[in-house]
Amino acid sequence: MADLRVNIGALELRNPVLTASGTFGYGLEFEDFVDLSELGGVIVKGTTLQPRQGNAYPRMAETAQGMLNCVGLQNKGVDYFCQHIYPRLTHDTQFVVNVSGSSPEDYAECAARVAGLERIRAIELNISCPNVRDGGMAFGTSPEAAASVVEAVRQAYPKTLIVKLSPNVTDIVSIARAVEAAGADAVSLINTLMGMAIDAERRRRVLSIGTGGLSGPAVKPVALRMVWQVAHAVSIPVIGLGGISTATDAVEFLLAGATAVEVGTANFLDPAISVKIVRGIDEYLTRHGYASVKDIIGICE
Ligand SMILES: Cc1cc2nc3c(=O)[nH]c(=O)nc-3n(C[C@H](O)[C@H](O)[C@H](O)COP(=O)(O)O)c2cc1C
Repeated sequence: MADLRVNIGALELRNPVLTASGTFGYGLEFEDFVDLSELGGVIVKGTTLQPRQGNAYPRMAETAQGMLNCVGLQNKGVDYFCQHIYPRLTHDTQFVVNVSGSSPEDYAECAARVAGLERIRAIELNISCPNVRDGGMAFGTSPEAAASVVEAVRQAYPKTLIVKLSPNVTDIVSIARAVEAAGADAVSLINTLMGMAIDAERRRRVLSIGTGGLSGPAVKPVALRMVWQVAHAVSIPVIGLGGISTATDAVEFLLAGATAVEVGTANFLDPAISVKIVRGIDEYLTRHGYASVKDIIGICE
């Protein structure tokens, strides 16, 4: 077996495979299918300072090779998470909290409350959600706004800070550089791509708020291109995601320069896919004679 360990800031992962926020609940919901201790980590559902209802239904639509969603960060708020969910997250894996907000202060306060949880060693800051009116993606689409959130959170959160970037921008490299300069320990990309579905028979848009975020295999080439560009432009680790559904997909992101990967929409098709991807990466490394996963990070010519 190859050495699959990687580091993201101060966070040590047993292997480079994490599950993506919003697609794997709190991990607990998948325990019948996956031994969570076989994963590098679980990035939990988006968490906000106040509880959020999310958007009205319908908020999902199937597309060719993917799906659209406009769930809108439905969650019970950070205090509920700390009191009721965190005590149940005792598995031997890294749980990462995905944090969203509507102002820099809001993000910072939410991060500060998570900072007190001993077994949570990292947060992923979602500055890229396309499905909420107040905040979300607004922070991820300009270098200045992205930096302002990261600076505020950096003051409040001393552990590993991962910043999740939006693909809905002209120049993702400028945003990645801005969050690196503002103190991020790592970046993850991509969040969903803004899209739309129309029901021709009813002559109306399918999703309740009109638009939604596209995910799944359809977005993989865009994600891979962005990971490649960002990995060549920053010195902090990059976590790649977007359409990963096989071990080969994951290897492609590692070759492009990602230190770790996240598996999202594919969990809906096969709830055990994340551990199959871990095993498949190991098999790839052994087949090609690599002793460590670190040997293939960013080596694509
Ligand atoms: C139903 C659903 C809910 C999501 N919720 C969140 C969320 O709360 N926070 C976040 O940062 N990303 C969220 N995402 C985005 C995913 O984490 C991921 O960035 C995106 O789906 C691309 O990866 P994939 O193609 O592997 O799914 C969500 C995606 C889906 C499909």
